[in-house]
Amino acid sequence: MDAARWDERYRSSTSLWSADPNPQLVAEVGSATPGRALDCGCGEGASALWLAEQGWNVTAVDFSEVALQRAAARAAESGDEVRRRIDFIQQDLTK
Ligand SMILES: C[S@@+](CC[C@H](N)C(=O)[O-])C[C@H]1O[C@@H](n2cnc3c(N)ncnc32)[C@H](O)[C@@H]1O
Repeated sequence: MDAARWDERYRSSTSLWSADPNPQLVAEVGSATPGRALDCGCGEGASALWLAEQGWNVTAVDFSEVALQRAAARAAESGDEVRRRIDFIQQDLTK
């Protein structure tokens, strides 16, 4: 699906994905020392937020404007420290 279709899909629901981070991410990264992380296809930002809460500096990329707006809103609600650790980028990862 292209970005427009993803936007359409996101608009069809107030929240498309769980607010919880990906369980595999938590299992793999939970005990690692925080550093820099790249979240490709970050969607509504659950994993990027979790990483930032653990102290990671995150670049969170998605091509859906709707998803990124939701992710940024969630980050803003999480406070300055978490918000400052995440750079949201709108980009098609195939280009
Ligand atoms: C299954 S969702 C992942 C949601 C998120 N990672 C999570 O766990 O909650 C896939 C995401 O990838 C994004 N996406 C798909 N193809 C992409 C591309 N070529 N470039 C950037 N983002 C893309 C979609 O907009 C969508 O938000």
